[in-house]
Amino acid sequence: MTIHEIRDKYLAFFESKGHSIVASSSLIPTNDPTTLFTGSGMQPMVPFLLGEPHPEGKRITDSQKCFRAQDIEEVGDNRHTTFFEMLGNWSLGDYFKKEQIPWIFEFLTKEIGLDPKNLYITVFRGNHELGIDRDVESVELWKSVYKSVGIDAKDLDFSERDGMQDGRIFYYDETKNWWSRHGLPANMPVGEPGGPDSEMFWDFGKELGLHERSVFKNNPCHVNCDCGRFLEIANNVFMEYIKTEDGFKPLPNKNVDFGGGLSRIAAAAQNDPDLFNLPSFKGVKERVQASSNGTYGESEELTASFRVIMDHLCAATFLIADGVVPSNKDQGYFTRRLIRRAIRFGRRLNMEQGFSSEIASVVIDEFKSAYPSLEESRDQIINELSQEEEKFSKTLQKGEREFEKMFSNSGAITGNDAFILYSTYGFPLELTEEMAKEKGQDVDREVFTKEFEQHQELSRAGSSQKFTGGLADHSEETVRLHTTTHMLHQALKTVLGDHVVQRGSNITPKRLRFDFTHKEKMTDEERGEVEKIINEQIQLGLSVHYEILSLEEAKSRGAIGLFEDKYSELGGEIKVYFIGDEVAGIYFSKEVCGGPHVENTASLGVFKLKKETSVAAGIRRIKAVLE
Ligand code: SER
Repeated sequence: MTIHEIRDKYLAFFESKGHSIVASSSLIPTNDPTTLFTGSGMQPMVPFLLGEPHPEGKRITDSQKCFRAQDIEEVGDNRHTTFFEMLGNWSLGDYFKKEQIPWIFEFLTKEIGLDPKNLYITVFRGNHELGIDRDVESVELWKSVYKSVGIDAKDLDFSERDGMQDGRIFYYDETKNWWSRHGLPANMPVGEPGGPDSEMFWDFGKELGLHERSVFKNNPCHVNCDCGRFLEIANNVFMEYIKTEDGFKPLPNKNVDFGGGLSRIAAAAQNDPDLFNLPSFKGVKERVQASSNGTYGESEELTASFRVIMDHLCAATFLIADGVVPSNKDQGYFTRRLIRRAIRFGRRLNMEQGFSSEIASVVIDEFKSAYPSLEESRDQIINELSQEEEKFSKTLQKGEREFEKMFSNSGAITGNDAFILYSTYGFPLELTEEMAKEKGQDVDREVFTKEFEQHQELSRAGSSQKFTGGLADHSEETVRLHTTTHMLHQALKTVLGDHVVQRGSNITPKRLRFDFTHKEKMTDEERGEVEKIINEQIQLGLSVHYEILSLEEAKSRGAIGLFEDKYSELGGEIKVYFIGDEVAGIYFSKEVCGGPHVENTASLGVFKLKKETSVAAGIRRIKAVLE
């Protein structure tokens, strides 16, 4: 069964259960300047999980395009891809466990035909400190669906310590069976929704696992042990809690957030753990093979190169279709990195020049019926890839010439040489290392790194420049209100206290809307004070600039905003916007954000707080305008 058939069946199945099918959101989050890419199906749904009514109702189903930049370096094994689709069904305060568990079981076993004998389940063990009980309700529901197919499903605790012992349903703690955007309960900020989850794993069979290999062999095999035997294919999140100052409290609505890895389900259906063997990759794989001198499966190294090329060019194709063209900045930097990595790995396979755009064309043909925008952007995608490949090939040629010169002058390649090749010629360290190795030499990485860090300090100092990109709407009004939102965030902290944390933001050209954690209704004095502070600061004509900082640096300089794992996408660095006196180094607001913003507050006009209301327990909402 192809991923396209599975996607269609899934959407039709949940439509038959009263769900509205919605299209995938863009890979670039809209109205969410806190993160660079859409990395899970849940991201575009956050406002609705927090209680905002969804225009399509309380039952939603979709297949969301996702890109995880943090996985770029992981690609090469049989299960990591940076681009994937996540099937989702959502109950926004409607059905809950007793519908979700039988439905998803029916879908996977009847519609897709997965043998229930090879499906295993995990549930939340419970945690007294969090005040959240063991999820016995889910266990009973799973037992009953298994019973309906003649399987006696045994539940068992501590399989990670004692092995699986013929169990079918296993309990794990919050490191495995808890889901929130921030991961563990302890990492969640106040106001964030989350909940226990119940995951489904496919068993590819003992012989496909690597359990006997050293890293795993001293522990018993269990579904979460990562030896390769089991693959998590689906996750039912029971999103029923919100974190508050006094621990977890029930959300006003109990929600279901189901996420199923589309290609993982397809891999289970064909009982082959290698995602790159799926029919959707067949055309791409054949194209790589045709323009190279390697064969998939020939050796581990060649196979890894195939996978990098296949994944990265697929991701780059989708990114460009969503408007993210290769560049040195922001999201575009990742498109560039993907293409350049694919080209580098292509060299290992002696790929013919021009291969990247040809592979993109195969990707477009494969996915265009599900994603018509790919066909609409075909010319642009092909052009961007051709240009990028040409540019990078020149870089590589120049770098190679320079490398040979350096080598013949001194008979060695030092860490400093490697840095010059990198900084002046854009020649990647990894290539320098490979070429040095061919000459029987190692490059001193420490020296390279030291030079690299010094260089970063310098470029940081010069990085305050205008940023464009990020929000869905780039109109002047929206950008002005976006900068105002930062000022509001700071003013609220000043007036109400440091417990104020942003919970959401939505900006149109007409007004800003800002959700934040605070228990009581604001008094008239507090509202007046917030307005006064913001208008005073606006009138000071403060400049706005950003700097790219390490996470530690951003924190130590007092930046506020959402520090999420996603920021590791910039190689551990994040972007912080400063509003204040740049020369004196005194800032009114310092906030983690993707931009864009105005250059000076003088252009903002007069701030007016229109409305202050409650959205959920402990969360307030402000609507405000500039007059
Ligand atoms: N939010 C959950 C996940 O990403 C389920 O959709 O795994």
